[in-house]
Amino acid sequence: MTLLADAFPPFGLRIEAGPLVLRPITDEVLPELISLAQSGIHAPELMPFYVPWTDAPAAELPLNYVQYHWGLRAAWRREHWNLEFAVEWDGRVVGCQGFFSEHYLVTRSGETGSWLGQQYHGRGIGTAMRRAICAFVFDDLDADQIVSAAFTDNPASNAVSRKVGYLPNGVVRKTRRPEEWHDTQQWLLTPESFVRGPELTVTGAEAFRTFIGLDSSPALPEEPGGV
Ligand SMILES: CC(C)(COP(=O)(O)OP(=O)(O)OC[C@H]1O[C@@H](n2cnc3c(N)ncnc32)[C@H](O)[C@@H]1OP(=O)(O)O)[C@@H](O)C(=O)NCCC(=O)NCCS
Repeated sequence: MTLLADAFPPFGLRIEAGPLVLRPITDEVLPELISLAQSGIHAPELMPFYVPWTDAPAAELPLNYVQYHWGLRAAWRREHWNLEFAVEWDGRVVGCQGFFSEHYLVTRSGETGSWLGQQYHGRGIGTAMRRAICAFVFDDLDADQIVSAAFTDNPASNAVSRKVGYLPNGVVRKTRRPEEWHDTQQWLLTPESFVRGPELTVTGAEAFRTFIGLDSSPALPEEPGGV
């Protein structure tokens, strides 16, 4: 039988590190992520995201959220892709960890992004999930470098970057809420400075490598699209 992961190999990935599991954002996990987001990701006066999606009225968030994830799947191309995982800690869905890349085959670089339900902040989970995605991207996807950025008024995200071994890489002004800008701290991680966590158990890496073009596959065109 053909599995959905055969058609879309990101759905076949699973990354485990002790109590932490990064699992694909399939439709079954979307309701849990919506509930988590609705219960709060950050204090309402703060805004850690470039796109202020958590400001949406509670009634609009579920549709926005599923459309965002369906859109990522539909827009997947080798030239630009956004790999998002649901994060489980001790069997409970607690947040999201992503890795976004443009022209990965050329740059061997991409950016991490993440969030946790507010009740799960400050327990080391953010550090563990960032270490896991970085180890996966370096070890299984042959990355040369990984970048990250956070508004300068986001001490937790900036602390995680520092603890994982990213080095400061400049300050860039970004918009967040309408008519509002704030400085972001940019970060750069290379394998040399990476502070690793526990060993990973990874499932589905081989098919995913082929899917993004790392291992040549005559079956896949450069721009998948037509049926
Ligand atoms: C960013 C985020 C994923 C970090 O996850 P987390 O599980 O809370 O992080 P950890 O517990 O692993 O580590 C947080 C670190 O930040 C530090 N920290 C948190 N608040 C801080 C503050 N106000 N001042 C200084 N340091 C602070 C903690 O002390 C800890 O460092 P330590 O272990 O050396 O003490 C989580 O806070 C979150 O989801 N925030 C809202 C969404 C967000 O900001 N996403 C990132 C957008 S760039």
